[in-house]
Amino acid sequence: MKPASLSFPLAVTALLSVAIFAVATLAQAPQTVPQPAPPTAGTPPPPAHHMHPAPTNLKVLPKELTGDQLDEIMDQWSAALGAHCNTCHTADPTNIGPNGKPRLKYADDSKPEKATARQMYTMLEEINVKYVSKIDSSGAPVTCGTCHRGHLGPEPFVAPVKEGHGPPQGTPATTAPTVK
Ligand code: HEC
Ligand code: HEC
Repeated sequence: MKPASLSFPLAVTALLSVAIFAVATLAQAPQTVPQPAPPTAGTPPPPAHHMHPAPTNLKVLPKELTGDQLDEIMDQWSAALGAHCNTCHTADPTNIGPNGKPRLKYADDSKPEKATARQMYTMLEEINVKYVSKIDSSGAPVTCGTCHRGHLGPEPFVAPVKEGHGPPQGTPATTAPTVK
């Protein structure tokens, strides 16, 4: 799932107001990931591939997200930015994990990159809800990857160099590239 698929179909249905959009996001978010069956009393929970605890400090993403749903979004952000979890999340040197590396304090807000990511997400929602979704038949929402393309800092766009206006030296005019 791409990050925007969480929000973009909603954007289409929520042109009237951002408030409706926010509510819709909350309503929709749990559907983006298959939900585990509710545990029956007395039965042990199904063996989860990975237990992601429910988030406690969400300020821009829907607070209803489960740990697994949030983890999926985090994987997408990391991939879109070519970043790692510790790009935005602070390491805890007093808590060394089995791999010998410090565990990350995910709920901690001290890294500036985390604050930037929150602003970026807010920007993204506004771009999609207020502008992109109003383009007729638009099916291509803006995502983190639209700008970042696998880099933490978006690379400057450099227009391809044109060969000048005439045919290149020594090239017959018939095969010269058309310059528009
Ligand atoms: C580009 C920055 C960025 C990257 C990379 C990133 N995160 Fe996050 N993460 C955030 C932000 C921002 C939030 C808070 C979102 C909010 O406030 O709604 C967050 C929240 C979380 C939370 C919830 C913490 C809590 O209890 O509130 C977890 C868990 C988490 N991230 C795990 C990860 C993992 C695992 C990775 C690597 C796969 C990762 N993150 C990569 C920015 C990032
Ligand atoms: C409209 C284009 C655009 C989109 C969409 C976008 N970004 Fe950015 N982002 C930028 C630009 C440009 C910068 C660099 C700003 C600067 O350094 O001057 C940046 C910088 C950042 C940084 C800081 C990088 C650093 O070097 O500290 C983070 C983190 C980040 N973006 C996260 C995100 C996340 C997460 C998303 C998706 C939720 C996102 N961005 C979507 C354009 C975008």
